[in-house]
Amino acid sequence: MMKKVICRLFSVSMLALMVGCFKDTPMSTIHTVTQAGRDINYVYFLTTVITVVIFFAVAIPVVIALVRFREKEDDDGSIPPQIHGNPVLEFIWTVVPVILLIIIAVPTWQIIFKQAREPAPDALKVEVIGHQWWWEFRYPDLGIVTANEIHLPENTEIDLDITSADILHSFWVPKFGGKVDSVPGHNNPLLWDTPAAIEEGGDYYQGQCAELCGLSHALMRFQAVVHKKDEWDRWVQTYDNPPNKDTSFEHKGDEIFHTYCMSCHAISGTASAEIPGPRIGPDLSNFGNRKKMAAGILDNNQANLRKWIKNSGSIKPGSLMTSFEEILSDKEIDAVISYIRNSTVKDY
Ligand code: CUA
Repeated sequence: MMKKVICRLFSVSMLALMVGCFKDTPMSTIHTVTQAGRDINYVYFLTTVITVVIFFAVAIPVVIALVRFREKEDDDGSIPPQIHGNPVLEFIWTVVPVILLIIIAVPTWQIIFKQAREPAPDALKVEVIGHQWWWEFRYPDLGIVTANEIHLPENTEIDLDITSADILHSFWVPKFGGKVDSVPGHNNPLLWDTPAAIEEGGDYYQGQCAELCGLSHALMRFQAVVHKKDEWDRWVQTYDNPPNKDTSFEHKGDEIFHTYCMSCHAISGTASAEIPGPRIGPDLSNFGNRKKMAAGILDNNQANLRKWIKNSGSIKPGSLMTSFEEILSDKEIDAVISYIRNSTVKDY
């Protein structure tokens, strides 16, 4: 009975695993959208096919031998004829693995060298900086700094330069292929090639820190957003527009932001953006246009932002941000939210 249950459970979980492997999900490494991802998967599938063939080539004779040569009832207990060495067999099991290793090694080398190539002269440079527990993105040629959403033009080579502000993280967008450590005091390169964009407003691809980096490692997410060419141009052009402070409410928000928030956060087009160097907290330029907040874990809306400002540690354990529950009144918090979120909805 027990044996039957275990067998059933095993077959069901194997089936689920097989279906799961081929299902397209936001974090699927098999359904990649970039050439780099397809190249990696080619080697992965080639290796998988070869190892599956080896598995059966070994397992089937072992099972046949176990069944056929097991002890029989009329066995007299004598030892079968003993042999030593078989040059033909030994030659085959030496040469076949060598050939298989060459078949795997050649495309692996080709793809390693292809990924380590020099970036094209027109590649878009982006500096990636991992922080506990969010991502900073800097576009040195465009003068843009942003956080937790890496915006990219379609069909373009992206020359990423990855580092960390504190401890080891790992930069990973499963659908783009490749996973690169972000190491403090060291820069790792990664070349991406973006796919064609489909959706108006950009195609969103899920990213995640893939190296255990403390309390909120699992909450260190981000999005890669690929735009159509004209939409990308508008994103770049409107990025620097500062938030409105037309109403007295927004004006109050601006004052609060520049009193309490700018020692860690910056918004382009305002005094807070003049502070050079890596940010302590995420850059909040164009925040109103982000889909997610708190490094990709919450929807970007007023209620979530209010909860976050009041006590970010209740959402992201270990968050370095001060809890403003006791420092600012509800009205003041709402004013600063209105100011930050209306950095807004520039139409791209
Ligand atoms: Cu950063 Cu895990």
